[in-house]
Amino acid sequence: MSRLLESAAAVLTSNWKDSFTIPCEGLYPFQWNWDSGFIAIGWAHLNMARAQSEIKSLLKGQWKNGFLPHIIFHNESDSYYPGPEVHAAHLSEHSPAIKTSGITQPPVLGFVLGELYQIATDKDSMLDFISEVFDAVYLNHQYFYTHRDPQNEGLVYICHNWEAGTDNTPVWDFIWETFEVPDYDLPRKDTQLIDASHRPTNAEYCYYIHLIELFKEWSYDDQLIARRSPFLIQDPLFNSMLIASNESLIELGQLLGEEKKVAQLNSWNSKAIASMNTKLYDIKEKAYVYYDLRNERKLSFVSSSSFTPLFAGIPDASKAEALVSHFQKGRFSGRNHENYLCASFDPESEYFNSKKYWRGPIWINLNWIIYRGLIKYGFKQEADTIKNDTLELITKYGFYEYFEPSKAENELLQKGYGGNNFSWSAALTIDLIKNDKTNELA
Ligand code: SER
Repeated sequence: MSRLLESAAAVLTSNWKDSFTIPCEGLYPFQWNWDSGFIAIGWAHLNMARAQSEIKSLLKGQWKNGFLPHIIFHNESDSYYPGPEVHAAHLSEHSPAIKTSGITQPPVLGFVLGELYQIATDKDSMLDFISEVFDAVYLNHQYFYTHRDPQNEGLVYICHNWEAGTDNTPVWDFIWETFEVPDYDLPRKDTQLIDASHRPTNAEYCYYIHLIELFKEWSYDDQLIARRSPFLIQDPLFNSMLIASNESLIELGQLLGEEKKVAQLNSWNSKAIASMNTKLYDIKEKAYVYYDLRNERKLSFVSSSSFTPLFAGIPDASKAEALVSHFQKGRFSGRNHENYLCASFDPESEYFNSKKYWRGPIWINLNWIIYRGLIKYGFKQEADTIKNDTLELITKYGFYEYFEPSKAENELLQKGYGGNNFSWSAALTIDLIKNDKTNELA
């Protein structure tokens, strides 16, 4: 284990850029929002000052209305497309002086602060740090509930597939077929850096860029986006991250004596949890699924995101049992344990692709979230499996961006998929080893 910890630390150290950490050299050369959250958890075990700096650097990109963008362009780089000139966040009246994108990512920062507090040995000084950034994170949550919940349900929408984090999950195919986009000739860089068959297609990228073009036309105005965006989704992962972050802010807010904010967070969370369990829970699939607000329809697909409500304490005991039964009956692991956990999309679906980004491969951050969720509900055996599968893949290949689920395929492979020396894979490996929760269960 100590070799693994050393090499994970080396990845974080080489991706550290003075005050923040890039996700991956070349492929992702700026600061990314949810990457930085997971990366801060890794740094917290090695160097708490860097964990704090990671968060402060991210918050430098926060907009005046509380919005927190998905990329902060602290530095220049020509190895990534689309860069700051494509996002053109200055078109919004709310954007800050620093260059950023104009879309967001799953809001992990609240629960990351909770993790940092738990890892910290000097709790007083950690609480001082948390009190410095608490209002900024609270403001971000307030932004979501004020501007992204048009039907006042406690569920917030995402307006772009990049906001989901799960960029090209097959679920979005059913949104792309609802509108047409120009056939742009896009100067992609990602497909020059890694195997193009492991990345989204050019046709998909035309949709991604077209949405950005629309948002720019509307000066990133939230009301116009809510009224007109063809992509308007209530996503189970995104809302679970927000609910888990609310929960951490409630606990930390109590320590800080922030009673009014704690009351507001509690009220957001009870409404959010109730709606997750009614609107986003699919009884037939026995899982949390997606809702397409633009076309008023449920998109009943099961992905790794479907299990993330466990992390946020959303299901009651019977829904949790139902969710975990997918693992027990082999829907993700295979009836004869043919797969490592946890594929990013239902391996029994016709849309599953074991190599293509979020259409099937295993991602370490989702495994970490699901592992913690399983621990929370006391599913020790399943928690052990997902943790051991994660560490087995990392030990065999190193800190890749994503991994092949099929055990048979893995017999033939020498590498993981996507970028190598990927920061959150390293950071969360450190946490899985150093912060072993499995022993806490009898
Ligand atoms: N994950 C996206 C990409 O691949 C950006 O957020 O570029």
